[in-house]
Amino acid sequence: MAEPTQDQVRGHSFDGIEEYDNRLPNWWLWILYGTIVFSIGYWLAFQTVSLFPQPKDRLAADMKRAQEAQLARMAEGGPSNESLNMLAGMADKVAEGRKLFQTHCVACHADQGQGLVGPNLTDPNWIHGGAPVDIHRTVTEGVAAKGMPAWGSQLGPQRVDLVVAYVLSIRNTNVAGKAPEGDVYTGE
Ligand code: HEC
Repeated sequence: MAEPTQDQVRGHSFDGIEEYDNRLPNWWLWILYGTIVFSIGYWLAFQTVSLFPQPKDRLAADMKRAQEAQLARMAEGGPSNESLNMLAGMADKVAEGRKLFQTHCVACHADQGQGLVGPNLTDPNWIHGGAPVDIHRTVTEGVAAKGMPAWGSQLGPQRVDLVVAYVLSIRNTNVAGKAPEGDVYTGE
């Protein structure tokens, strides 16, 4: 081992034990400075100007894509209880459904779905069945004799799915309104 040349002994001694005042090697210092510069660039790119998406946003986007793909697979054989319930669990779909409901349905079912001319959609009672596929069928085909329009042809299948997702999201929230009609539905 080569004898260190620039080392200085610091000015204290404990029980005869002394300490070198070693200078940090340049390679070590440059790595330190490099990490500081890198951290500033990283912070600016990710947190300040958002040049790159945050990992949590990338994850959310991936999850959404996966969900959409799963929905598309499930919807191949037409809407099922499973696919409609899944749709009803997705906040953005329910929000789109809410908009459609406000445009097309509140005139007869009231703003919270508590019923006016049409029945209360928030109680556990259903005239035409409370399973997701039953609700989907009623909305699609309507009940001409009672004044419920057929929405399948007016909205198209995609928007019917969305508005049904919203109806499913307000099921059993029991908003005070029109008295219950039909049979209690206890399934999912
Ligand atoms: C012109 C009035 C009117 C509009 C608009 C209307 N509905 Fe209805 N709806 C009714 C009536 C009346 C019934 C009850 C039918 C019956 O008694 O058989 C009904 C029944 C329903 C049912 C079945 C309830 C049950 O107990 O089985 C659902 C679900 C429903 N409507 C959803 C919707 C949705 C979603 C929209 C908007 C896209 C909508 N309705 C728009 C009048 C309307």
